[in-house]
Amino acid sequence: MSLRGLINRRILITVIIITIVGGILTIWQARQSVEREVTSSFNLALQMIDLGFSHLSRTGMTEHQWLRQISAIQQTRHLHISIVNEQGEEVEWFVPENDEEEVPPGWFVRAVTSTYPSANYNVHLADGRTKQIVVRADPIDEIIEAWGESVAYFWSVVTMIGVIFLAINIVFNSMLQAVRSIVVGLRRVESGQYGRKLPPFKISEFDAIATEVNRLSDALKVAKENNQALARHTMQIQENERRNLSRELHDEMGQSLTAIKAMSTAIRQPGADVSKVSDSIAEICNHLAGVVRSMMRTLHPLSLADLGLGATLTDLVNEWRRRYPELVIKLDYDDRLDQVSHELAIHVYRIAQECLTNVVRHAQATKVTLTIRQEGEQSSPRVVMRIRDDGQGGEAAGHGFGVLAMRERVENMGGRFRFESEAGEGVCVSAWMPIIEKSENE
Ligand SMILES: Nc1ncnc2c1ncn2[C@@H]1O[C@H](COP(=O)(O)OP(=O)(O)O)[C@@H](O)[C@H]1O
Ligand SMILES: [Mg+2]
Repeated sequence: MSLRGLINRRILITVIIITIVGGILTIWQARQSVEREVTSSFNLALQMIDLGFSHLSRTGMTEHQWLRQISAIQQTRHLHISIVNEQGEEVEWFVPENDEEEVPPGWFVRAVTSTYPSANYNVHLADGRTKQIVVRADPIDEIIEAWGESVAYFWSVVTMIGVIFLAINIVFNSMLQAVRSIVVGLRRVESGQYGRKLPPFKISEFDAIATEVNRLSDALKVAKENNQALARHTMQIQENERRNLSRELHDEMGQSLTAIKAMSTAIRQPGADVSKVSDSIAEICNHLAGVVRSMMRTLHPLSLADLGLGATLTDLVNEWRRRYPELVIKLDYDDRLDQVSHELAIHVYRIAQECLTNVVRHAQATKVTLTIRQEGEQSSPRVVMRIRDDGQGGEAAGHGFGVLAMRERVENMGGRFRFESEAGEGVCVSAWMPIIEKSENE
């Protein structure tokens, strides 16, 4: 159901309840006021009759006098007077003229009518006859008045409701227009059209939503561009690696194999120095073994699966210490991390490798510390990495594919990554990732 339909329905139900309760209260009020009015008029009439007739009755009055008295009383509102004739029947003495007032419907009359008093009077005339009159309260005038008031109340309520409905629907129209534009904006984001922005809205709440949608669109645009760049870069790296590999195979392997082949031919020549040639072949083989090991390490740290993360990291650090003896490299490793899954171990290893490469390439540091520890509670442990160097740092540092790839690795594992760099203060790379334990078949 639409929001407009829902609110209109709620208002309608409320209005119906208000009208019913209001109607009942109005009728009750009308009934009370009719009763009050009629009773007070009746009592007043009785007092007038008591005063007028008792005085005249004592002396005895003529027909003309008592009829005048009755006419006077009949002027009082809400009274109905009839005369009892000789046969004992009540005769309408005074038929009120029909002043064309709207007669209320029967149900209303029944609802506001209660029982009203009546009184009988004997009037002694001068000629010795006694006339009897019956005085009854007649509420019809009052009921007509109450009906008029009730109808006016009803129409004022109807007008008020109409105005409320109109106002709400006008506000709704502008709100729904904003909602429609926001939905269109979200669809554009969904279909990857990040260029078109939502306009500002007059209603502040919608404006806040539109601002957030625009920001979301910007963030998605940046993420998409980063992803595309990273994918391109990854493919480029792959191609470079293949080219390097083939060059190394050609240069190192090819040359060494050619040399070994040449030596095997030379060894057959009469007078050849067998032991010298054999030493040379052994030397070439050692060199080849070194080359193969280095190539394998670049392609994939094989020892990760066999020796575990700790030993592989120590191996990596030792290799860098050997290559750069002037750089002090400190490794603080938590042995519990040897139990993490192979996937997580690869990420930790690659991040450490990239950080060390960056330190050597960009930092001009004398010291780098790698802290790789397990933290957090037993139920939700995480691996926390902090690689800090004392190099030159830099304002614009951290914008490259190496840092982007590290961030991607960490965020893909559901973790958080931070690259902090300050000129002269060195760089600190921090990452934390939720720990995934080794599965049984790893
Ligand atoms: N440890 C560091 N010390 C100083 N600058 C660094 C450090 N690590 C990274 N940077 C800076 O951040 C940039 C981005 O690094 P990275 O994404 O790894 O790209 P790349 O190493 O290919 O240049 C580097 O070009 C460098 O300017
Ligand atoms: Mg780098």
